[in-house]
Amino acid sequence: MIKVAKPYVTEREVEAIREVLFSGRYLTGPKVEEFEQKFADYIGVEHSVAVNSGTAALHVSLAVLGVGPGDEVIVPPLTFFSTVSSVLHQNAIPVFGDIDPDSYCLDPEDVKKRITENTKAIIPVHLFGNAANMEELLRVAKENDLYVIEDAAQAHGTEYKGEKVGSIGDIGTFSFYATKHMTTGEGGMLVTDNGEWAKLARNIRSHGMTDRDHHDYLGYNYRMNEIAAAMGIVQLERLDDLNEKRIKNSKYLLGRLRELKIPWLTTPRLESRVKHTFFWCPVLIDEKKLGMGTKRLREKLYERGIETRHRYHNPLYKQKVLTEKNPYPEGFPYNSKHYDKNIDYQQVYLETAEKVAGKLLGLPNHPGLGQTELDAVIDSIRSLEV
Ligand SMILES: Cc1ncc(COP(=O)(O)O)c(C=O)c1O
Repeated sequence: MIKVAKPYVTEREVEAIREVLFSGRYLTGPKVEEFEQKFADYIGVEHSVAVNSGTAALHVSLAVLGVGPGDEVIVPPLTFFSTVSSVLHQNAIPVFGDIDPDSYCLDPEDVKKRITENTKAIIPVHLFGNAANMEELLRVAKENDLYVIEDAAQAHGTEYKGEKVGSIGDIGTFSFYATKHMTTGEGGMLVTDNGEWAKLARNIRSHGMTDRDHHDYLGYNYRMNEIAAAMGIVQLERLDDLNEKRIKNSKYLLGRLRELKIPWLTTPRLESRVKHTFFWCPVLIDEKKLGMGTKRLREKLYERGIETRHRYHNPLYKQKVLTEKNPYPEGFPYNSKHYDKNIDYQQVYLETAEKVAGKLLGLPNHPGLGQTELDAVIDSIRSLEV
């Protein structure tokens, strides 16, 4: 079986973790501080705040920026649900903007249509290792006095016009979940140039505690521990090497597929202004031309020993938590300027998201794959041609 993703751990990570285990210090401390400093340097920002997931990083970012009840936050409909649930956790309202048909990231033109006097922030997601159109999104944000939180959970090391994503907006967030470009098992990071926000984020991640027994803010236990940080330091040192292999594998696969001109498969358009790091190696399936659904295609590839990714099956505004407005016992409590008095997510329809959802397939591209495996992926896809 050729796996679609695989964490890359060496004796170096094992040794770093062993050292912490025998040190007896597990609670957020010097390793977390070292990881934060090195991550900030890598991304090119002043401050990093380590937390225990990418979801926590998003939630803390919204809290730090003062996003609260009734505020609207513009999010894309194709992403992991945390981009949306973090907004709900602040009692704010996720407002969906459509995606660009080439990058699958938020379309700045569509974002403009979603802005109301209640809009407080935009969360562009750098999907699959690509980069959203930050230049236009920042322009829209500036014109409308909005914050930009870059969700870079899938884009460690991705660059937009020579700048690392996460460093371009007001705050950037990352995930170190097991399948990501680098991992700490579970973990996350918030990055920013703003020292006040970083200080507040440190408080919020640790019970809103300013001192022992002093809780000045509504906080959470979102701390990263020393074991995770020790692993993160080593993974960060290896990140560029791992990314180069990911990029090489993905470009090889996409190049071969382009040459083959398979009528039911579209490879993504790669932009010269973006250094794509290919969390996924995505292809878009034309189910009509193929004569079967993407789900069936995935099963057929699996039978041939090729594991693939197949996500996001539906635009996120179709999730039950939103259509049934069930986050709170009394339903969804706040009115929305954009969605009107009675928010009804069942009425939301975004054309490009609807076209693309369920038809994106991620091919195996992880750094451990060699020529033989990549050719086997191509051969399996070719074998489906009739
Ligand atoms: C785009 C995006 N945002 C947020 C997250 C949440 O990260 P975590 O799983 O570390 O909470 C993920 C993780 O899968 C993600 O892909």
